[in-house]
Amino acid sequence: MVLDALIKIKNEIDPSLTFRRSCREGICGSCAMNIDGCNGLACLIKISSDSESTITPLPHMFVIKDLVVDMTNFYNQYKSIEPWLKRKTPAPTPGKEIPQSKSDRAKLDGMYE
Ligand code: FES
Repeated sequence: MVLDALIKIKNEIDPSLTFRRSCREGICGSCAMNIDGCNGLACLIKISSDSESTITPLPHMFVIKDLVVDMTNFYNQYKSIEPWLKRKTPAPTPGKEIPQSKSDRAKLDGMYE
């Protein structure tokens, strides 16, 4: 995978090469970058055996260093859509944890797997 090549370059050729990665399974999205003109996850994209590849930071984002982009705008946009579960009724005790019942948990089964 492209991420393996980047790790090899960092370990053996240029320790200053900077990029993000975490899960190495295509889950976290940390390794998002532009590879041969397409945005994708470096941990899921195979290295081309036919030709050289061009790897650049994600487009339309400020670059902090090498392949690391500034995610501030992304997180602000993400926060603005409030992508978390919300109660339909006010919390019984604001600011306190609300334990999930087994029946409420059962409602989520099969919704995200
Ligand atoms: S390292 Fe998590 S998606 Fe690539």
